[in-house]
Amino acid sequence: MLTPLIAGNWKMHTGIRQGADLVLKLRELIKGVTDVEIVIAPPFTSIYHLSHLVADSPMQLAGQNLHWLKEGAQTGEVSGEMLADAGCRYVIIGHSERRAYFHETDELVNKKLAAALRAGLKPIICVGETLAEREAAQTVSVVSTQLRGALAGLPTGALKDITVAYEPIWAIGTGKTAAPQDAEDVHNALRELLFELLGSAAKPVRIIYGGSVKPDNIDSLMGQPNIDGALVGGAALKAEDFARIVKFKAAASEHKA
Ligand code: 13P
Repeated sequence: MLTPLIAGNWKMHTGIRQGADLVLKLRELIKGVTDVEIVIAPPFTSIYHLSHLVADSPMQLAGQNLHWLKEGAQTGEVSGEMLADAGCRYVIIGHSERRAYFHETDELVNKKLAAALRAGLKPIICVGETLAEREAAQTVSVVSTQLRGALAGLPTGALKDITVAYEPIWAIGTGKTAAPQDAEDVHNALRELLFELLGSAAKPVRIIYGGSVKPDNIDSLMGQPNIDGALVGGAALKAEDFARIVKFKAAASEHKA
């Protein structure tokens, strides 16, 4: 059983003060949680400030994106080394919004993944299909191509710290979550592909689900054998909601008692 990972992607929301308020609330609400790894990905401008506020809490920081070079004349970009320097341990790569609005291809995701590993960051690699692709029964082939492209040519031993996030595009920000069994089927296919590509290095790789994860659907999603956590957007901006999602295990044991 892998330690679940619950990650909050704040996207382009929160200034420094608002982000600090959210982290301070979360610190109280998730005090003592040790059975889940908790990551938050604020905008770049807040990372360093928040690094002081998450210290000695269960929260770790992630960047939402990185450039593949260490440094250079790349106006407006931020490198993995800079993210690590500011306090990040993780970085999200290839989010569907980056693929759609910033033309990120599988080749670029692959370069960014190599750069994240070089910088000592743990990458969260996003894959997911559009509604049209799902309706055409292409989901598994689309996410498999994305995952193969992301990992291409990288040494398998270096990939044990990656996380794969399955985020169906039609479920992001829409309130429509994949049915737990449908998500499970895709996670299962991704798991098989990881073992095919990485062999035993695939064992510690978590596959997390994203797309309208909320307090009222986290328990059924986490009840699936191949769902190892969640990548949460909107609900990660509300302290109580994110804390409830993080504490899904406590809720499950209360339910049993
Ligand atoms: P929502 O949870 O708002 O659907 O966003 C999901 C997401 O894109 C997380 O990366």
